[in-house]
Amino acid sequence: MSQMPAAVSIREVGPRDGLQNEELIPTGAKVRLLDALSGTGVRRIEAVSFVHPRAIPQMADADEVWRQAGKAEGVRYSALVPNTKGAQRALTAGFTEIEVVVSASDTHNRRNVNRSTDESLDDIAELIDLLHGAGARAEVIVATSFGCPYEGDVDPGRVAGIVERVVRDGADRVAFGDTTGMGTPRRVRELVTAVRDREPDVPVLLHFHNTRGTALANLLTALELGITEFDASVGGLGGCPYAPGASGNLATEEAVHMLHDMGIDTGIDLDALIGVAELAEELLGKRLPSGVLRAGPRSRLTARP
Ligand code: COA
Ligand code: ZN
Repeated sequence: MSQMPAAVSIREVGPRDGLQNEELIPTGAKVRLLDALSGTGVRRIEAVSFVHPRAIPQMADADEVWRQAGKAEGVRYSALVPNTKGAQRALTAGFTEIEVVVSASDTHNRRNVNRSTDESLDDIAELIDLLHGAGARAEVIVATSFGCPYEGDVDPGRVAGIVERVVRDGADRVAFGDTTGMGTPRRVRELVTAVRDREPDVPVLLHFHNTRGTALANLLTALELGITEFDASVGGLGGCPYAPGASGNLATEEAVHMLHDMGIDTGIDLDALIGVAELAEELLGKRLPSGVLRAGPRSRLTARP
């Protein structure tokens, strides 16, 4: 196995990517989840998204969730937006780290945000200027980077072209979303290589879904490629409400368990995180897919460097 990084930075996305795919829960329950996550040692949390309430009713109370949240010292909170209007809302709410999403495939982008990928990229160029003018940082998340549920394979060259464009337009960082869990180690390797060939210096974060059971394999492959930033969702929260049985994001406990056992630091207290995953199960009234949650005695799971 190649040289592994000593530490990785995990961004917890359960409160946004997780909850947007679940049955609606009350504002107070969202705040409880967010605040509990803030106490696990995780250093980055994607707290909410500012999208059209008709598109994602689960995020309609984003302003209120953020207003009530405890906002712990030492945690970097971010918000996801689909367009300039969302970015304005996020800035007004006080966010200084903002992710804007665009899909590599046109069909998914039209379904998600009602415009072509190129139209979104034009909007994003203006949005980046708006954020920088307000002293905020702009990350561009490229969704369907590893495959599109409508178009199938996505050419890594197309994703790299999008990265080149947004970096030219001022993006501070990029992320690649495996929106429907089509990623495999081969696809991860090809995409990261294609992007690095074109833009070797831009900070990269990877966002995996475990729909087809490949999330941890993808994580390991990315570590071997020297990637150190990942999204993960407590309990493996999320998944597509229109695909019963499909599991959601890479579960944060599964990632942390594996990383700590490999001697890779995350800053996260695994026991505390398991406690929050149990809270999430209680708040949602259902079992979550995380293997760590289902594995029994905690003491066998808490090997930490
Ligand atoms: N938040 C709230 N309202 C918004 C908005 C936002 N981010 N962006 C646009 N709107 C409002 C506009 O103000 C306008 O309101 P009006 O009719 O009162 O004037 C209305 O929505 C239509 O604006 P338009 O730009 O034409 O939006 P649209 O109908 O083409 O919808 C999106 C585009 C991006 C707003 C919508 O598709 C969306 O929110 N998608 C998000 C999907 C998502 O979150 N997916 C999961 C995460 S990847
Ligand atoms: Zn996702």
